[in-house]
Amino acid sequence: MVHVFVKICFYYMWFNVSSALSILNDHLDCNQEGIKCGSKIVNCSDEQERVPRSLAPTGPVWALENVGVAEDENGLLPVINVSWSVEADGGILYIQGVKAHLLEENTTQTLCVWYNFTIPSQLNPRLGKWTFSLDGVVVDPGHTYSISVFNLPEPDQEHYRLTKQITVPRCDDWRIQQAQLCLENGSTWDPQMTVSVSWGAGSLAATVCFNTSQFSDGYTVAVKSALYQDSKNVSKGKSTWLNVTFEMDIRNHIQIGPKCELLFVVRPFFPGCKNKCLSAQKKWENCPYDSKQPWALLIFATLALSIIAGCISYSHWKSSHKAPSTPSPPDPTPDAAEVAKRKTVLLIYSPDHPLYTVVVLKLCSFLMAQCGTDVVLDLLDLTRLGQLGGLRWLDWHRERIESSPSDKILILCSPGVQAKWRAMCGAKPVVLREDQRSPVGDMLSPALGLIVPGLVRSGSLRRYIVAYFADVCSEEDIPAPFNVAVRYKLMEQFEEVLLRILEVEKQQPGRVNRVQGVGQHEYSLCPSGEALRGAVEAFRAHQQRNPRWFEDELVQDEAEGDVGSDAGRTLETRTLDIHA
Ligand SMILES: *[C@@H]1O[C@H](CO)[C@@H](O)[C@H](O)[C@H]1NC(C)=O
Ligand SMILES: *[C@@H]1O[C@H](CO)[C@@H](O)[C@H](O)[C@H]1NC(C)=O
Ligand SMILES: *[C@@H]1O[C@H](CO)[C@@H](O)[C@H](O)[C@H]1NC(C)=O
Ligand SMILES: *[C@@H]1O[C@H](CO)[C@@H](O)[C@H](O)[C@H]1NC(C)=O
Ligand SMILES: *[C@@H]1O[C@H](CO)[C@@H](O)[C@H](O)[C@H]1NC(C)=O
Ligand SMILES: *[C@@H]1O[C@H](CO)[C@@H](O)[C@H](O)[C@H]1NC(C)=O
Ligand SMILES: *[C@@H]1O[C@H](CO)[C@@H](O)[C@H](O)[C@H]1NC(C)=O
Ligand SMILES: *[C@@H]1O[C@H](CO)[C@@H](O)[C@H](O)[C@H]1NC(C)=O
Repeated sequence: MVHVFVKICFYYMWFNVSSALSILNDHLDCNQEGIKCGSKIVNCSDEQERVPRSLAPTGPVWALENVGVAEDENGLLPVINVSWSVEADGGILYIQGVKAHLLEENTTQTLCVWYNFTIPSQLNPRLGKWTFSLDGVVVDPGHTYSISVFNLPEPDQEHYRLTKQITVPRCDDWRIQQAQLCLENGSTWDPQMTVSVSWGAGSLAATVCFNTSQFSDGYTVAVKSALYQDSKNVSKGKSTWLNVTFEMDIRNHIQIGPKCELLFVVRPFFPGCKNKCLSAQKKWENCPYDSKQPWALLIFATLALSIIAGCISYSHWKSSHKAPSTPSPPDPTPDAAEVAKRKTVLLIYSPDHPLYTVVVLKLCSFLMAQCGTDVVLDLLDLTRLGQLGGLRWLDWHRERIESSPSDKILILCSPGVQAKWRAMCGAKPVVLREDQRSPVGDMLSPALGLIVPGLVRSGSLRRYIVAYFADVCSEEDIPAPFNVAVRYKLMEQFEEVLLRILEVEKQQPGRVNRVQGVGQHEYSLCPSGEALRGAVEAFRAHQQRNPRWFEDELVQDEAEGDVGSDAGRTLETRTLDIHA
């Protein structure tokens, strides 16, 4: 029993924190120039004497009502002021006072005030109507009050009561925002929340910074995305602002795709609203193909056109070159100084499967560690990628490589590369699960779109190296336009790939150039090579256990498709338009 009682009391205190209807003390004075007036709070059930109608004054008329704050010893309180005036008719001389009746509609709490006065003349000394007011009625935000005012004495039959309903605004209204009760409900909290995000290799750090409020000590700061959420509780101490940092492993956590966004939330705990307080929120989105960014649209349109041009010029090229020719021979051997200079390789691949992505990463490490090559890989350049967006990032690297005579683009073919190339030329759009998980989405289709037109047009094959891991992929995974290039089987022909990168011909008059330690049976003797071999074997084992691994990696539901697949669809229709 006691328990239940306590609970009810608690409930009442918690949710009906309404102050009793009252009037601020020093506001009850009703004296004014020309009238000596006495006032007091009376019992609303007390009946007054009634008089015949001919001896009763008529009713008052409204002048105005105001909602605001007024101060008492506890600080500022929300109050209403009302005022009314007396009709300057004959009845005015019968007035013996006025009674105001206040009713809080939900709780039916009442308060009555009686003013005792007589009126000496029809008009006041300033020749206006006599006006009375009831000021400083302490009210609760959001509650509705009914106020009736009537002159005394009342007639015995009819009423001349004037009734007005006033709904007090909530704390967010500027008129009562400064009331203590509202301050303690967070009414003036301006968090000025900011979010800054920085990309690192495979991770993302987001810092949420906000201004604290004097009235809330604790805050919960949270980050949410479709697949990920995290939160931290912080206490402000003496600080007027706080910052909270979240580190996220982007490879595993952020759902990128149709909704590549993070939501940051700061929840305060004010005494007035406890854990129901309004929180501050900020959305962060950085889609590489965010259609809301005009430049992205522009680049996308350009890209779409260049892909179509690529497809068309490729088919023209194909009809004029029936059989794929052998590669153009590498340029004359560069001099030693140039060989010594570090070469940069841009690696284009499709993230067909998480295990395959590991293979790609290990290949990069091997190239960097064992072969002294600089490798540009989207996964290893996420900071810049985050700043530029996928397309601009690709374009920037492509331009850099094209302006440097010795840099190369290594295209690593796999089932995903073939499928995406076909999708670009009109087949069914392809969305890989890894693309959806990636913070930047599908990078391969834009890459193919940028490379293929140039490749087919200028035939500058020297710059492009096409390869595939023979253990986990096959020659069929090479898109048709690349058939014009030599296709290297890895790791069997890795040495040739490396010599291409270094621009050294294997066979030179009088000698055969060799690179130590990169042959099929030697490469795994060094740690980075061993890791590479391990990755290939792990993926191969997975493939053997799951013959349908590639189909399983495709996002089947079209509705789930991301912007990449939309692009595929757009292209499809445009290609048809052009053929029609
Ligand atoms: C007002 O008067 C009624 C009866 O006339 C009485 O029951 C009630 O207790 C009184 N209220 C106050 C606050 O005095
Ligand atoms: C209400 O009346 C009091 C006393 O006359 C005054 O100080 C206060 O400013 C008034 N508030 C509004 C909102 O009119
Ligand atoms: C009302 O005021 C008059 C004089 O202004 C006074 O004589 C009378 O006693 C007052 N009535 C009450 C009930 O206070
Ligand atoms: C008043 O009561 C109604 C119905 O009981 C409820 O919906 C409303 O929220 C209440 N208003 C306040 C200010 O408590
Ligand atoms: C107090 O804050 C809560 C959450 O912001 C809000 O729902 C509630 O209406 C506020 N109370 C008042 C009286 O405005
Ligand atoms: C929020 O904090 C910043 C930095 O401390 C300060 O410049 C700014 O005036 C603060 N804003 C508010 C509303 O307190
Ligand atoms: C933060 O505090 C709330 C309530 O005080 C609690 O429910 C929640 O578990 C806390 N969260 C963390 C991350 O500590
Ligand atoms: C976060 O706050 C710490 C001290 O509280 C400060 O050293 C750091 O620079 C702040 N970081 C940001 C991004 O504002």
